[in-house]
Amino acid sequence: ITIFRKDYTPPSFWVDTVEMGFDLDPKATHVTTRTTLRRNTDSKEKELVLFGEGLKLVQIRMNGQKLARTAYQIDKHSLRIFNPPDNITLDIETQINPIKNTSLNGLYVSNGNFFTQCEAEGFRKITYFQDRPDVMAKYTVMLRADKKKYPVLLSNGNLIEEGKLSGGRHYAKWEDPFKKPSYLFALVAGKLVCQEEKIKLKSGRKALLQVWVEKGNLDKTQHAMDSLQNSIFWDEQRFGLELDLDRFMIVAVSDFNMGAMENKGLNIFNTKYVLANAKVATDADYAGIESVVGHEYFHNWTGNRVTCRDWFQLSLKEGLTVFRDQEFSADMIGTNSGRAVNRIADVRMLRQAQFPEDAGPMSHPVRPESYVEINNFYSVTVYEKGAEVVRMYYTLLGHEGFRKGMDLYFKRHDEQAVTCDDFRAAMADANGRDLTQFERWYSQAGTPRLKVSTTYDAAKKTYEISFTQSCPATAGQSKKLPFHIPVAVGLLNAAGQDMSLKCQEQANPTDSTTLVLEVTKAKQVFHFTNVKERPTPSILRNFSAPVEVEINYSDEDLAHLLAHDSDAFNRWEAGQRLAMRRLLKLTAAVQAGKPLELDTMFIDALSKTLNDTTLDAAFREQVLTLPSATNIAEQLKVIDPHAIQTARHFMRSEITRHLKDDLLTAYESNLTNGKYSPDAESTGKRALKNLALSYLQEWPQDSTFDLAHIQYKNAKNMTDRIGALSSMINAAILSQKDSASKSARKAAQLALDGALKDFYNAFKNEALVIDKWFTLQGSAASTDVKKMRQLLKHPAFTLTNPNRARSLIFAFCNANPAQFHAADGSGYALWADLVIQLNAINPQVAARLARSLDRWKKYTPALQEHMKTALEKVASAKNISKDVLEIINKA
Ligand code: ARG
Ligand code: ZN
Repeated sequence: ITIFRKDYTPPSFWVDTVEMGFDLDPKATHVTTRTTLRRNTDSKEKELVLFGEGLKLVQIRMNGQKLARTAYQIDKHSLRIFNPPDNITLDIETQINPIKNTSLNGLYVSNGNFFTQCEAEGFRKITYFQDRPDVMAKYTVMLRADKKKYPVLLSNGNLIEEGKLSGGRHYAKWEDPFKKPSYLFALVAGKLVCQEEKIKLKSGRKALLQVWVEKGNLDKTQHAMDSLQNSIFWDEQRFGLELDLDRFMIVAVSDFNMGAMENKGLNIFNTKYVLANAKVATDADYAGIESVVGHEYFHNWTGNRVTCRDWFQLSLKEGLTVFRDQEFSADMIGTNSGRAVNRIADVRMLRQAQFPEDAGPMSHPVRPESYVEINNFYSVTVYEKGAEVVRMYYTLLGHEGFRKGMDLYFKRHDEQAVTCDDFRAAMADANGRDLTQFERWYSQAGTPRLKVSTTYDAAKKTYEISFTQSCPATAGQSKKLPFHIPVAVGLLNAAGQDMSLKCQEQANPTDSTTLVLEVTKAKQVFHFTNVKERPTPSILRNFSAPVEVEINYSDEDLAHLLAHDSDAFNRWEAGQRLAMRRLLKLTAAVQAGKPLELDTMFIDALSKTLNDTTLDAAFREQVLTLPSATNIAEQLKVIDPHAIQTARHFMRSEITRHLKDDLLTAYESNLTNGKYSPDAESTGKRALKNLALSYLQEWPQDSTFDLAHIQYKNAKNMTDRIGALSSMINAAILSQKDSASKSARKAAQLALDGALKDFYNAFKNEALVIDKWFTLQGSAASTDVKKMRQLLKHPAFTLTNPNRARSLIFAFCNANPAQFHAADGSGYALWADLVIQLNAINPQVAARLARSLDRWKKYTPALQEHMKTALEKVASAKNISKDVLEIINKA
């Protein structure tokens, strides 16, 4: 069944209080729930409908009386009470089986401990309830369990009582002082230990912060704790938002479907986003932890204090909170180029995942109109494009204007469940702006195209920029209306400096070298006066809108921008355009069987950047990183993964052939000795050094392979260790075919096998590191379907742990295009088997994997044929969840 946004109706009853009691037992947990309800006079619905999934109802009482069997009806998904009075006290007892719950949705057991995940609709797997976000209530929770097995008992809010019970059991009672929707409910019980620190909040109040982990992991909590404190102080400073609780807990769990969950006062995290030390975590892991800890903490206001009226409004909290965590990470880096590097990484991700989603069968607006399974809409569109939409308010209204809008939003809606329109209204009203047209960013799917053309009149010293916007048709949306697009623009003179700008259409420019032009019509022209020479336009600075810009730059224009643009984002963008142009030509040449060539102009431009030591290493690394295979595929009508792979590989080896010495210099001059620190400068150095190392492997030479092998053996941190291993496993020397290099090839293979074995043995007790070991192999160019089938049988592999399943399978299906798209369709057959197996264990993870064949209609006819067979196999398998079916049917 499909749920539609237009069908929203208010709940028939409000819930004031919820008192829950849990008798925790892995096989049979008893849950008693007492709720007080009051009729909602705004609702036409007479009955009270409670949702429930897979529950055993033990008893139900209404206002103290056992409810007659004729007074209610139960089906697979709900419990319906006929003719209820206006004021109700409802007592419900249910029994559930957490150990059998492999979906990791609701109450489940992981490594012998209890955890919950209730967003979006997991609470209904615990008890019968109006499990919808606009029903907000105050919760009191009593937990009871065996004291030896479950010494720690946690829930939302404040601990108000604890003590002993008979039979070796104990209890803890928790009270959450704030009203909340059921999706924010959480409990944790088991053998855990914590790192704790007390901090002083802005108001002078004290708060206790705790990071809870399994016993062996206490040496990996400091970074999460630091990130939490930084988040708390940042939200006070930047948005005037203070922690509203006396106690804030983070708990790490190794079996978890997503990244983390913002349950009030009791955030539950995937271990991947908590645990770190130099031995086991990479620079990227450190950055990921900082951003996810920030993200979940920021939800305390944007999500929890003000929540969503219904799940169609998901981006109200997610888009906004991603924007906030992006800003947090940028502020933590501090430097200008650090900010730009973060921005580049975010845009890379948007293009890598969101643009394809927006162009494929699962395309949906930031505020979807319908869904079958809401979990499928925790998407890059709702999160990352949603964050871009919030960023556009920020760009349009300015730093202070945005803050005014946020202040008004909280003033109006604290402790309410609201819509994306309410957010937009607060932004508009606080700034006296009309943002009616801006609504289209929420309702129209698809990535808008923005065509740009320019004319310069040397005699009149005028310059015109014309914009033509359009948006491709997307699933269920054929006609699109113009968007309100903020386009940040600068003009460079021949010396590469910013010109000061005067635009006739712009009333009060705030910054005279970058103007935010507001494009609102299908066609629109902006006139600049007093332009002394023909400029090079820098369009969409800092990626001011999630659109594709089409503009006729010459190679010289792009080289000029790459060398000089004051906007570091567009500097990088110019380099990517130079590369993309050539990658598309090379791909076409591969398909036509023509010889491959790469011009020196491009290589010169790259070498200038690589050798410019006034630029941060992190920025140079971004420039030297080529557009991904997916980026290239997005530009093509028909995707031929093998041609793309060949083209990209050719470009990398040509770059290496010409720049060997420069790459070696970059390698040697960016070594980071001394104590490991994940700061921006060291991180950038390691990134550039490891990129240089991987380029060097494109040129089959023993010495460069040895460089990687030596780095592996001497590595003092995980970033260097995994960087070396990744270089080794993808080294060209391993696939050399001529007999002359046979012994070198053999020696390299031996060294690699030894390193892989050594790595495994050294880290076999660190699950997150073994995940990396699987990922490395799943995405290695040499890992074919046969090798994959072997890896799937490795004793350390399992489908029941999402991190482990993703580490190997998603790496192969999403990051190893040349092997996954094997011409005989064997990769797709493997995919179908795995989707079906995962579906029986964990529908959410299975549905994510199902997305890998989303774009099957874009591939070459021969591949399409095999993909279709695989899709049909999944569609016709038994007991396929609605999660997976929605994806397959849409494809
Ligand atoms: N609200 C969480 C976050 O963004 C994500 C939880 C999603 N979980 C799910 N099963 N859909 O941090
Ligand atoms: Zn979130």
